[in-house]
Parts: sequence; structure tokens; C-alpha cells
Amino acid sequence: MVALDDCYNIHDLRDAARRRLPKGVFDFFDRGTEDEVALANNRAAFERIKLKHRALVDVSKRSMATTLFGKPVSMPMAIAPTGVAGMCWYHGELELAKAAAAAKIPFTLATGAMTPMEEIAEKAPGRLWFQLYVWEKRELSYELIERAKRCGFEALLVTVDTTVGPNREYNARNGFHQPFRLTRRATIDVMKRPRWVSTVLARYLMQGGLPKYENYPKHLQHSIRTDPNVHAIMKRDSLSWEDIKIFRKMWPGILMVKGINRPDDAVKAAEYGCDGIVVSNHGGRNMDSAVASMDALPEIAEAVGEKATVILDSGVRRGSDIAKALALGAKAVLTGRATLYGTSVAGQAGAMKAIDVIRKELDNTMAYCGCNRVDEITPDILFGYYGRNTAAQFVG
Ligand SMILES: Cc1cc2nc3c(=O)[nH]c(=O)nc-3n(C[C@H](O)[C@H](O)[C@H](O)COP(=O)(O)O)c2cc1C
Repeated sequence: MVALDDCYNIHDLRDAARRRLPKGVFDFFDRGTEDEVALANNRAAFERIKLKHRALVDVSKRSMATTLFGKPVSMPMAIAPTGVAGMCWYHGELELAKAAAAAKIPFTLATGAMTPMEEIAEKAPGRLWFQLYVWEKRELSYELIERAKRCGFEALLVTVDTTVGPNREYNARNGFHQPFRLTRRATIDVMKRPRWVSTVLARYLMQGGLPKYENYPKHLQHSIRTDPNVHAIMKRDSLSWEDIKIFRKMWPGILMVKGINRPDDAVKAAEYGCDGIVVSNHGGRNMDSAVASMDALPEIAEAVGEKATVILDSGVRRGSDIAKALALGAKAVLTGRATLYGTSVAGQAGAMKAIDVIRKELDNTMAYCGCNRVDEITPDILFGYYGRNTAAQFVG
């Protein structure tokens, strides 16, 4: 058993999560799609950026606090939506949401969460964002929007990069796709992790059955073993800008589109009234040939300017990654797997550990680069960077 104190960074938390979760569950969280090129590129894009430290600046009073959509955050980070987080810990989303509230950063609840949004709003009253997947029968999604409104969620994030179901072959091999099939292999995997069985699976079973998609409209709520096609769950290939227009009319709060990869889409999103744009390739989980978010970011930030708030995700594992994203024009980042690894190891305490690790690393990076405030993180800290147009302008 790994103690949280033995985890010094996100990689340690990932190793600990791997030891705790059944292989099918861990792979589902951790891996990419097809040949996992996008997954690797997300990290490579961060790693090839070098920073210049600045000497002899008094940074003894530095602060990571900033604002996001006009409201304070303790650091430029929020939690990304991750469906089925409830499989890595009993009601994992709630644990993650509580950690985010305590850390004073926003939390995004996924449509595919296993904790009802009402419970999240009641027990983790921090800044709450709701991620929306859209059903072919739009009224079903409108129902969710109204529910999120009633619960007081401040932002709606519409995910626009999952036009069709991704090709994650390992999930099929592990028996961990939808519907979840208890194959011989999956059964052996699960039996090898008795602690996960007793602390996660058994708790759901004692509460009345396998975990369910608690935020789906009532008549569609089904367990992970039900074939989603039975209910024509989420057919997203008809989603278009017309939908964004409707969401804008329905949602009075902050509206974001998540999964933007090109400047023209980003500008269009701002024109359609979106307050925020999440530059994301879904953590390398959807289209394997997708450009890394960090490579797409400079052009997008340049094109959007002040028209909307640009946020980045996909590949953030270190605090220095946040500094790099901010230097290239993002206002904040979202973390998906990084905070999920922590949750998988120790629920709220583990999620808190992941946030703290990243926070400390960002603080160090700011100190090295001579930045006292988040708005002092500019392209000036980047090595070999000549302009704000494309990542290709990096030397080396
Ligand atoms: C296990 C898992 C489930 C996810 N589920 C969703 C989801 O339901 N909706 C969504 O918009 N994005 C989802 N994402 C993508 C994340 O919101 C985010 O874009 C991605 O994880 C960022 O990359 P990172 O994991 O490298 O930080 C999921 C990611 C993971 C790892």
C-alpha cells in the first residue's frame, strides 16, 4: 500500500493509482486512443518548451492568486470533467469536487458522472461548472441544462470534440467498454484488486447496484452494464453552431466550448457568445492525429485576443506546464488525469495532494522566472520564442 506522503509528484500518484485500480479501470483513465500518438504529443509539446530563469528579482511576496471569469481563484487551474470518475473511488466526483472547493479552484462535473449534480452542489459548494454532452433528442440535454441551472452551477461547458465515439481498442480488450462486460479477463482483473472491490464496487452494490449515470435524464439512467445504444444515448454527430446559439439563449451564466483546436472555430465560438474556449484534444483520447493542445494554443490565443477567455487542457502534469500555457496565451488550465490519479489513490485527500503538488511546482517556476504575479507570466519567460504565432517558432 502506498502512502500519500510517498508520492512526490503526479507520476508517483499515477503509479500508486495503477497499483490500486483494476487494469481495465486504470487503462480507461490513463490511456489515449488508437496508437496513442496524441497522448504522447501532448507531453512532448510541453517538454520541448524551455523557460529562462530570471536572476535577482525579489519574488518573496509572489502569489498565484488570480481571477477567472471575474471571480477569484487561488491559482490559474480548474478541474476538467472526467466521466466515470466514480469508478476510481466511491463517488469520486464528489471527492474531487470537495478538494477543488477547499483549494479554491473550479470543479467541472461531467454528464457521465456517477454522483448526482444536486449532491455535488449540496456537499461541495465551491465554483461548479457543468460539462454537457448532447443527445440526439435535444430536449434531453435541455433538461440537464435546467437542472444545472437550478443547482446553481456557474458555467456550462459544451464538449464539441467528441463527434463520434473514439477508437479505444484497449477498452474492448479489457472488457471495459460500454456496456461493461464481465469477461473472464475483466473478472480476473477485478479479483486482483480486492481493496478496490471492497471500497468502491461493494459500496455501490450495498447502495442498490452497479454505479449509474446519475445525471442522465431519469428514464435514461442506466448502469455501466447496459448497452447505451438501447436508449440511443448520445449521438453527437449532428451537433452544430445552431446548438450553441440555443445553449447561449438558455444559459445565463458562463458558457464555454471545450475541445477547440483551430483559430477559426475559436473566433466563431466567441462570435456565438461563448465566454470561454477550452483548447483541448480531450487528453489525446479522441482523434489520435489531433494536434497537441499546446501546439494549437498560440494561434488560437492570438486570434481570440480579448474576445473570450482561453483555457487549455491535455497533458498538464507539472506546475511548470501551467506557466508555459499562460506564457503562450492561456488564462488557466484544466487538469484531467493528474487530479484523477490522486482521487484514485485516496479520494479527496489524494485529489488535494495532486493539486498541492502542482501548486508548489507552479510557485517554484514563478520564483525561478522572476514572476511575482500570474500576469507577469508572459512570452518573455520562454526560450527561443520570437512571436506569438505558431509553436514552430521555437528554436530546437
Ligand atoms: C477518464 C477520463 C474521462 C473523461 N471524460 C470526459 C467527459 O465526460 N467529458 C469531457 O468533456 N471530457 C472528458 N475527458 C477529457 C478531460 O475533460 C480533459 O479534456 C482531459 O483529460 C485533459 O487531458 P489530461 O488528462 O492530460 O489532463 C475525460 C478524460 C479522462 C482522462
